[in-house]
Parts: sequence; C-alpha cells; structure tokens
Amino acid sequence: MVIRQFYPNCSAGIPVKRFDWLESFELRVPEIDSDHRAMLDLMKATRAAAAAGNRERVEHYIDRLFALTQNHFMREETLMLRWGYPDAKMHATYHQRLLDRAKEVRRACGQIESQEAFEECCEEMMTFLIDDVVRGDMKMKSFLETNGLTLPE
Ligand SMILES: [Fe+2]
Ligand SMILES: [Fe+2]
Repeated sequence: MVIRQFYPNCSAGIPVKRFDWLESFELRVPEIDSDHRAMLDLMKATRAAAAAGNRERVEHYIDRLFALTQNHFMREETLMLRWGYPDAKMHATYHQRLLDRAKEVRRACGQIESQEAFEECCEEMMTFLIDDVVRGDMKMKSFLETNGLTLPE
C-alpha cells in the first residue's frame, strides 16, 4: 500500500494538521457544522489512541467515526435534494467514493504490525473522511449563501 502525503490542503490552503476546527470550515448550517465538528473530534481521538498504540481504542473510535460519517452523508444528501442543490447527485457519488476509499485503507491498516506504519495508515484513512469537511462541502458555500440557507453571521 502506498502511504499518501497526509493532510490535503483545504480550499483556503490551510493544512489540516491537528483536526482542529477552523472557522473557514463553518458553513453556518448547524445541521452540517455540528456533524463536521463531531467528525473532527473522533478523528482526534482516533489519532491519540493510535499514537498510544491502543488498537482496541482505535477500532472503537473508527467504528463511531464511520457510523457518524455515514449518517452525516445521508443527512447532507437529503438536505441537498430538499434545497435543490444542482450538484447533489455528484456530491453523493463523491461521498460514496470517500467512504469506499476509507474502508479500503482501514482494512489495510488491520494488516500492519509496526506502530509507526499503523499510525500513518490511520492518518491516511482519515484524510478521505476529512476531505468532505475541508474541501468537498466548501463547494456548496456560495449556493447556500445565495439561497439564504445559512444562519446570519
Ligand atoms: Fe459534510
Ligand atoms: Fe459532503
């Protein structure tokens, strides 16, 4: 397996090094933002458990992260259809691809024995899930604003 370069740059060009919430991620759509925050929290917890070498904990957090992400994608897709987002179908395909890739990497991580490579593998897996927060959904921002779907600043 090829370990990719971690932390894709988000649209603002800020590397996501710590899974910290950045203001630039905020869509001002509470149903979406709260899921994104929770996803980042679970990624941080996953990273900490991986760094501590606690694989059982890693599995526990990753299970929760996948469940949350799957629900989040469904919620988002329902909202996009309701709002008439023109790229709703393309975005749903993008979600599915992210999940498939993350699952694939997760399976590969299970085969890794060395601690360092395992941590790197977990990081790689999470880059697919965080892509939705830092890149994919940013494409919706102007549509949401133009259509008055965001909360006032
Ligand atoms: Fe999202
Ligand atoms: Fe999304």
